[in-house]
Amino acid sequence: MSTQDLFHGALAQPVVMGPQAVILPGFAVPWMDRLLVAVEEIQAQALFRQMSTPGGRRMSVSTTSCGELGWVSSEHGYRYSPVDPHSGRPWPGLPEAFLELARAAASEAGFADFHPDTCLINRYPPGARMGLHQDRDERDFSAPIVSVSLGMTATFLFGGHRRSDRPARARLYHGDVVVWGGEDRLRYHGVAPLLDAPHALLGRQRINLTLRRAG
Ligand code: SIN
Ligand code: FE2
Repeated sequence: MSTQDLFHGALAQPVVMGPQAVILPGFAVPWMDRLLVAVEEIQAQALFRQMSTPGGRRMSVSTTSCGELGWVSSEHGYRYSPVDPHSGRPWPGLPEAFLELARAAASEAGFADFHPDTCLINRYPPGARMGLHQDRDERDFSAPIVSVSLGMTATFLFGGHRRSDRPARARLYHGDVVVWGGEDRLRYHGVAPLLDAPHALLGRQRINLTLRRAG
């Protein structure tokens, strides 16, 4: 890890993105070793796959999930499923380190008692992106979203309540955590195409963990 990465995690202040939205720089660092081991274990049981959108396009990110539910997308739409459609088995459980980190980050951002039941894991190779969207497949929107960045640096796009609202741009580094909820829960957001700048630990990829309460 470079000196810059270490300083970023140790010194940076929260970045306020909205009344109930914040970037917590380096917040995941104390959990990092456990997170990376857990991602390895999950992807061995529930393989990363490139899903299709209802519009029939292939997503540029590869995706898997863990928890009681997993988010799946196909030509038929988006939904949460208790089984991995690839394997026909339940998704791997939510690792303790994910739960601890999610609860701590939510609490730091002002959301007490966050109990996620799913984690979407997105893997971005260089060039992959995530178009502006709202997270709205969950049953109720009272729980926040906790999003953890690992590996290559990304540019996060955080928009408004309309797709046409011009998004703010913020860098997300390895170990950063973004939390949004409350009045910001349905803000449009996405990720700009990833630059090909390999990360010291994870190489030519970015991994994002999105923890949510879906059911
Ligand atoms: C997402 O909103 O689904 C992913 C966000 C990210 O990769 O940071
Ligand atoms: Fe999202």
